[in-house]
Amino acid sequence: MTLSPVDKPPFAITTPLYYVNGLPHIGSAYTTIAADVVARFYRLMGHPVLMITGTDEHGQKIQRTAEERGVSPQAHCDEYVAGFEHLWELLNINCDRFIRTTDPRHNTIVNEFFQRVWARGDIYQGQQQGWYCVSCEEFKEERDLLPDQRCPIHTNKTVEWRDESNYFFKLSNYQAQLEQLYAERPDFIQPESRRNEVLSFVKRGLQDFSISRINLDWGFPVPTDPGHTLYVWFDALLGYITALQDSNEPPSLEQAIAHWWPINIHLIGKDILRFHAVYWPAMLMSAGLPVPGRVYGHGFLTKDGQKMGKSQGNTLDPVDLVKRYGPDAVRYYFMREIEFGKDGDFNETRFINVLNADLANDLGNLLNRTLKMAGRYCDGKVPGVDPQAMADGHPLRAIGRSLTETVPKAYSCLAFSQACNAVLTLVQASNKFLDDQAPWSLYKQGKQAETEVVLYAVLESVRQAAYLLSPIIPGISNQIYAQLGFAVDFNDRAIGQALGYDDQVGWGLLPPGQPLGEASPVFQRLELPEPVASA
Ligand code: MSP
Repeated sequence: MTLSPVDKPPFAITTPLYYVNGLPHIGSAYTTIAADVVARFYRLMGHPVLMITGTDEHGQKIQRTAEERGVSPQAHCDEYVAGFEHLWELLNINCDRFIRTTDPRHNTIVNEFFQRVWARGDIYQGQQQGWYCVSCEEFKEERDLLPDQRCPIHTNKTVEWRDESNYFFKLSNYQAQLEQLYAERPDFIQPESRRNEVLSFVKRGLQDFSISRINLDWGFPVPTDPGHTLYVWFDALLGYITALQDSNEPPSLEQAIAHWWPINIHLIGKDILRFHAVYWPAMLMSAGLPVPGRVYGHGFLTKDGQKMGKSQGNTLDPVDLVKRYGPDAVRYYFMREIEFGKDGDFNETRFINVLNADLANDLGNLLNRTLKMAGRYCDGKVPGVDPQAMADGHPLRAIGRSLTETVPKAYSCLAFSQACNAVLTLVQASNKFLDDQAPWSLYKQGKQAETEVVLYAVLESVRQAAYLLSPIIPGISNQIYAQLGFAVDFNDRAIGQALGYDDQVGWGLLPPGQPLGEASPVFQRLELPEPVASA
């Protein structure tokens, strides 16, 4: 049974809330692009969707960065947040909520949540000793450190010894409940490799973790003891709840969780898996709230094998990349080229080659030459062919029909490169089909009906490809749809209602006789940058 749009359940997805210790780098852009793609796919299917992103603004890391710059932490955050908002706009991210953890409404939600956990008896005061990585904002096990007390994630940073009075959260109380959650819901943590990491971590026995700091001003005070400041992670995770609240409602935990809770997917990088897959569900259990649907930990973008990051100083400037190549190019490359869940290296030559091959040649040229032929041979209209009369074994129809199943499944599993590859099989088969069938020569031989059948099949394949790739390359899909004679905008948040999913996802749905638009290249070939001459 297909659900009508109104019946489709709401779908909420989050990115991590990014630290504003620097401008966003391509690693942060990567997660946000992926979340945007999933959100767009669910909108296409007609679900009510809420995509949340935002910034994590408290803690020592931000306080120190602001001090180094000689500005107040708030002024620092305000300045850097703008950089995130600007990048999301450049990358055509259609987010519904942008939460800043310095939002005063957030303080109310954090206090309410804290009180629930406090009332449950899950918070106590104790002494915290250990090695702290300010870049991770996390205590590290001594055995995990690199030589010279360096952090295994921020390999150029040394950890700092701490010995202070903190409040602790009784994570150990939730050992059994967490194990039960992982057993009952095997897809709670994805991909499988990350799930296994978490299972073995939890099996070693859970230790309580500290949720407050002393000697730190930049954060919310602990409600029961204002001499302590809440640990940045305790506050940050709750940002996912504050984000659910409409800005015109007075803040309240009850209200905030009324509509979109539990979140369907928390999309994160693998370095913050423990916080999301262990600490967070335990905190929620303690507060008597349902846990999220799934936590997906993707891999790292690396440069020369090293994690790219602000703290490592080896980042690629996403603003520069998107300004040079455009949002669709950047979105497509990362979704197509890196198997989601695994690490992937960025290489500019590969970037250009992939885009030229897939978008300029295979997809763009296919549309361009077919449209021109339709202009000449079919009076600039979609050929008047009945697609249902085509043989079941028609090569493009057969592939197109299979995509109706495989591509949505790939998106739901966040297997973006599989979705792209599946669509490309249709695009490549269409190029071959066009060459084999040679409609230009059919036309010369006066075989009008045969010419039309061939052109219809190719135009329809391009349409279906554009529809299925629209979550990834909405700008290009818009152009393709316009050239095929539709008036739609894939950036429309109500796209699922504007273009019924069932009317678009299959093969054979291009309306015969529809006037076609002007043919023009949808993606300009990219040139490799000139190598910098060495002195
Ligand atoms: N503030 C925390 C998240 C709190 S969520 C309640 C944080 N912020 S972060 O800015 O350091 O990182 C945000 C995300 O970016 C993480 O998921 C991290 O994995 C991701 N990435 C940071 N560097 C990355 C790469 N080089 N490659 C891919 N993702 C990377 O952690």
